[in-house]
Amino acid sequence: MASAPPIDASLMPRHVAIIMDGNGRWAKARGLPRPLGHKAGVAAFRPIVEACGEWGVETLSLFAFSTENWARPKEEVSALMGLIEEYFNRELQNLLDRNVRLSLFGDPAGLPEGPRAFVLRAVEKSAQNTGLRLNIALNYGARAEIARAARLLAEEAVRGALLPDAIDETLFASKLYSAGLPDVDLLIRTGGEMRASNFLLYQIAYAEFLSLPCFWPDFGRETLAEALRAYAGRERRFGKL
Ligand code: FPP
Repeated sequence: MASAPPIDASLMPRHVAIIMDGNGRWAKARGLPRPLGHKAGVAAFRPIVEACGEWGVETLSLFAFSTENWARPKEEVSALMGLIEEYFNRELQNLLDRNVRLSLFGDPAGLPEGPRAFVLRAVEKSAQNTGLRLNIALNYGARAEIARAARLLAEEAVRGALLPDAIDETLFASKLYSAGLPDVDLLIRTGGEMRASNFLLYQIAYAEFLSLPCFWPDFGRETLAEALRAYAGRERRFGKL
């Protein structure tokens, strides 16, 4: 049964983004290998996706794998790719049943064939859904995203379809993976670090930032509810007084 939102609908962030950190430390604290931390991290997805859908968050963006994460040990990368494939295979029906529309932030061409096929299938199957917008950042880096947007605009200009003067913030934003979505209102990072780590740099311009000590596998509905309450208590000024 759907639970009541922890804050008033008028205060609900439209776009929540999460840097899901601390899987490795969660595993280490239990004497487990790191991949088991990632496995526990994947299990934490469902309650958060469901809560966001029930509580009226419009858009949820999750940082699952960065362009820098390829530099991790081969076994860890391949364990993560396996988990991604498994997640989209196993969860697709649940996402569809919940009217979730999935998008991929990042370059699919850089992913191994298995996970790429499962992710793209989920994106395609959910394309007509009208509920929660779930963005999974995979093989994603914000600087690469921004450079890509600049490249797309330059190509249009070279073709003669666009005058440089027409390029403003709105047009630029329309070339990002997040085209058409609201800016991030609330950026949560688990695991206690205070870094943005190349995640959604354009979209977080006025986001409220919350760094939480809990490791991602321990992040549940109640932690999300607390984060939303903290967000609702913030005064947002957007550069004004
Ligand atoms: C950070 O923990 C987490 C990641 C690099 C990956 C996050 C990925 C998942 C939760 C699974 C992705 C799965 C799907 C289904 C998209 P860390 O390893 O950096 O932790 P540490 O800082 O404690 O070492």
